[in-house]
Amino acid sequence: MPVKHSTHGKLISFEGSEGSGKSTQIALLAKHLQLLGREVLTTREPGGTEIGEQIRNIIVHNSKGDEMCAETELFLFAASRAQLVREVIAPALLKSKIVLTDRFLDSSTVYQGIARNLASDPVQQINHFAVGNVMPDLTIVLDVPTELSLERIRRRASDLPDRMERENIEFFAKVRAGYLLLAEGMPQRFHVVDGTQTEAEIEKEIWKAVQKLIA
Ligand code: TMP
Repeated sequence: MPVKHSTHGKLISFEGSEGSGKSTQIALLAKHLQLLGREVLTTREPGGTEIGEQIRNIIVHNSKGDEMCAETELFLFAASRAQLVREVIAPALLKSKIVLTDRFLDSSTVYQGIARNLASDPVQQINHFAVGNVMPDLTIVLDVPTELSLERIRRRASDLPDRMERENIEFFAKVRAGYLLLAEGMPQRFHVVDGTQTEAEIEKEIWKAVQKLIA
């Protein structure tokens, strides 16, 4: 199904390794935007819809998931994204909302394409088929050293690490390098933030970039 494009709303995606602080910064940015009187919708991938949350469960939590091949993983992430775009993101953009998403298509490019080493052409084609013409207006990458993001995963509250979090340090090093490579190739869309700064410094830098976008 083609997706109707909106010129009014804005789509801002947040990317980065696990433990990079995306969810904290999304909440802080949402507050800034709401104080300006903008309508904000926050969502996440995989998930964000009932179908997407079920898919998330298969990918991340299924105990048999360790046997999942990379191609299946790619299709599942894309399926969740296709649903999210049509059910949630595109309608919100048409209503001139600002949509903040915790991950979008760049996660597949980096995790499945670069870190899992799937061929880049099919990954791009599947990504673009899933999103239609809905692309982020701005992508914020929270960049943290791999060791730090692994440490944050380990320190995270109660849960045991999920299937993706059980990957080794080389995998997460590829993820980090992958994001930096993408950002270098598309400087007009990407803004890389040094995630080792204080929470307040990161918040300020992101707010500056977003103000430019919505001015
Ligand atoms: P999260 O824990 O940051 O919400 O993300 C769930 C996991 O899924 C995380 O390890 C990143 C991974 N992921 C991919 O591998 N490919 C994708 O396309 C997306 C959206 C997430």
